[in-house]
Amino acid sequence: MLPNRSDFPTNFTFGAATAAYQIEGSAFGNAGPSHWDSFAATPGNIADNSGGARACDHYHLWETDLDLVRDAGFDAYRFSTNWARVMPDGRKLNPQGLDFYDRLVDGMLQRGLQPFLTLYHWDLPAALADQGGWRNRDIAAWFADYAKTVQARLGDRLASTATLNEPWCIAWLSHFLGHHAPGMRDIRAAARAMHHVLLAHGQGVQVLRSEGARNLGIVLNFETSHPADDSLAAQQSADRQDAIYNQWFIRAIVGQGYPEAALDGLQPYLPSGWQDDMDLIAAPLDWLGVNYYTRNLHGHSPGLWPNDRPGTGPLPKTQMGWEIRPEGLTEFLLRLSRDHAGDLPILVTENGMALAPAKDIRDDADRVVFIGDHLRAAKAAMDQGVNLQGYFYWSLLDNYEWAHGYGPRFGLVHVDYDTLARTPKASWHAFRDMLG
Ligand code: NOJ
Repeated sequence: MLPNRSDFPTNFTFGAATAAYQIEGSAFGNAGPSHWDSFAATPGNIADNSGGARACDHYHLWETDLDLVRDAGFDAYRFSTNWARVMPDGRKLNPQGLDFYDRLVDGMLQRGLQPFLTLYHWDLPAALADQGGWRNRDIAAWFADYAKTVQARLGDRLASTATLNEPWCIAWLSHFLGHHAPGMRDIRAAARAMHHVLLAHGQGVQVLRSEGARNLGIVLNFETSHPADDSLAAQQSADRQDAIYNQWFIRAIVGQGYPEAALDGLQPYLPSGWQDDMDLIAAPLDWLGVNYYTRNLHGHSPGLWPNDRPGTGPLPKTQMGWEIRPEGLTEFLLRLSRDHAGDLPILVTENGMALAPAKDIRDDADRVVFIGDHLRAAKAAMDQGVNLQGYFYWSLLDNYEWAHGYGPRFGLVHVDYDTLARTPKASWHAFRDMLG
């Protein structure tokens, strides 16, 4: 049910993706505490009160996990370095931390896998969170130092480096909606984070380039904003969410400035002089990453800006309750290349579904359908001229799904959280049949 490998160009990259905090086990290897450790230890934040202290114990089982990536036939592995493992207080090096990633990258090369690094996938060292984290402008310099340190050790062997994963989640979800660490709900904090996250990206790119890094990009998430009803107010609400979610970051990154519909509410709270940072933020990139999962409906809520009443529609849903809408991937890829990216290479850096385990944990037929439909949607965009160069499935393993804990299972490979046994599911075999 997956398309054929030969439907895609021979140099198209197929990969599987993970992130450090979600799989490694933050308690191992003298990693420092991150803001996720304390967020997860605070009652009410995580569905099952769990954290990432052990997660999938990838810290010890990484060789098994890389074997699984190779044996499925993937070309590449997208992983992240945990900032708090590399620098437990955010500033000073933990050699043991970098040694781990050094072994991991060598392990990928030994297995013929291209290492696709993401420098920040949400594990902010707690010591930096104490100093205001993403609200503090200094985070741009802190991040650039961290990026430089990782590049110096791993850069010679990386196929690609992304600065940040999903700035909307880093800034908006975490400082306005309060669902992710540090769990704030404050428009001033959110506006600052919305800007500083981009400044950190820009400063990171500048430093990485000067250190000779190759193939630099950023991973953005896109989620279709549809009006919940046919009122003008609902349309305006959907447009506002589209500006905050789907336009704020990409526009700034390609030098198009912040969208008016978001500035309307955020401008009073942005750090003064933000306009002067826009050139640095728009530093040229080598590729753009797209994470695509679903759409959302937006109605009008009376009261304060952004007057959003989020909802979901009638389409079939994943275990997350997210509507399944493959054509949205085609739409976003076309929109991205038409409105923002031009010919810049695009990668689908994440796409996947959470699916509750069947009686037989290997049976995930619905996931195979989901992947096939989304690969065909990606191909449809390529047929219409989009310069798409790769697709990474999220995720290799079942893992720690942030505020949802260990319930949602996104993996091609089932993880038993008691025994840590890995069991490939039908979707893993489907990839192997396609790619192997
Ligand atoms: C996006 C995030 O990058 C990843 O960490 C998360 O697990 C997946 N989406 C699924 O929600």
